[in-house]
Amino acid sequence: RGRCYGEPTMTNTANVAKGLEGVLFTESKLTFINGTEGILTHLGIPIQDWAEHSTFEELSLALLNGKLPTAAELAAFDAELKANRAVPEALVEIIRHMPRGVHPMQALRTAVSYLGLLDPQAEQTTEDARRAISVRMIAQFSTIIAAINRAQEGHDIVAPRMDLTHAGNFLYMLTGKEPTEEQARLFDIALVLHADHGMNASTFTAIATASTLSDMYSCITSAVGALKGPLHGGANEAVMDMLDEVGTPDKAEAYITGKLDRKEKIMGVGHRVYKYFDPRSRVLRDYAEVVANKEGKSNYYQILETIEKTVVDRIGSKGIYPNVDFYSGTVYSDLGIRKEYFTPIFALARISGWCASVIEYTRDNRLLRPDAVYTGERDQKYVPLQERQ
Ligand code: ACO
Repeated sequence: RGRCYGEPTMTNTANVAKGLEGVLFTESKLTFINGTEGILTHLGIPIQDWAEHSTFEELSLALLNGKLPTAAELAAFDAELKANRAVPEALVEIIRHMPRGVHPMQALRTAVSYLGLLDPQAEQTTEDARRAISVRMIAQFSTIIAAINRAQEGHDIVAPRMDLTHAGNFLYMLTGKEPTEEQARLFDIALVLHADHGMNASTFTAIATASTLSDMYSCITSAVGALKGPLHGGANEAVMDMLDEVGTPDKAEAYITGKLDRKEKIMGVGHRVYKYFDPRSRVLRDYAEVVANKEGKSNYYQILETIEKTVVDRIGSKGIYPNVDFYSGTVYSDLGIRKEYFTPIFALARISGWCASVIEYTRDNRLLRPDAVYTGERDQKYVPLQERQ
């Protein structure tokens, strides 16, 4: 008898890697994570150094090129991003007419897909085309997300400015007010921390789409959909809901204990890869503390501190520690960003990682096509509809 398709895995459930945990499907030179020791590097450089010394623009270019840029390369990239900040008026119109009250990630998913309709290069899948589209998308995500926020709030859409940094211009377009240098830099650091993270669910989704040799807009639209869920990018918004539910720091311990007793998940903690502190959460905690020390802002931070302690005491032994989403929301809130926009902001940063990963993967492409163990019935007869019970 010849080998049936899928036969080796048809009966052996022991071969199933639920959630693809630990499955290595490709090689990458971009991001390294050691989840046991809480280490994250891009191009071999620790995330703490990127956060301290670099900018979102520089990290994006480094990821796209696979190496640190020279000053001239970075200046050229910065100019390219600025030149691409404006989005087509037809898309602005679509954003203006989106139904009010939709989740901004739905709006973003639709906008990215629509942007593809307006790009004459959209169908091109050479590396050069993918790169050119990536630069445009990195620049335009900012304008799109800010425009969605403005339109949803019933405000005029603010056109991009060319004299501000990527982070500063986003805050300007979002709020209509020029941010202080300190605010722009804080937001820039948040973007750096979120720009890439190996084979997370949304990057994997982008790559899965790319592996069919589909176009960049399809890859990124798929990735936006994957990031939206509360187990991935949506967790930062869920953390803020949790903080509001807790209310005051004195109620935090009992709230968490109750949830753990009921076997409910705590948002912003736990990670498929990190079994120790996510290093990004440590950087964000420091900034959250700075924010908390400002007058009247300490409530959230104190609740988070208590939750962190309770979680680590109770389930740290299971490898459950705060992840990147735990402290980010309080920092964003301080910048005047509404919680519904935390996940779009994640996308604003992760677009660089998605694009760089798609480009890297498609250089040596192989269609992604995993398999499942078949556990259903066999040798069944088709029963006519009228004879079924
Ligand atoms: N709260 C309480 N317990 C948890 C949590 C949590 N957030 N996460 C995992 N656990 C427990 C599980 O119940 C399980 O316990 P058990 O062994 O007694 O059954 C154990 O830890 C292992 O958990 P798994 O669900 O197998 O871990 P997995 O790798 O599948 O989950 C995930 C990772 C989905 C991120 C999970 O930790 C979670 O749901 N966290 C909350 C959502 C969140 O913050 N997501 C953001 C992740 S980071 C990012 O995407 C940017």
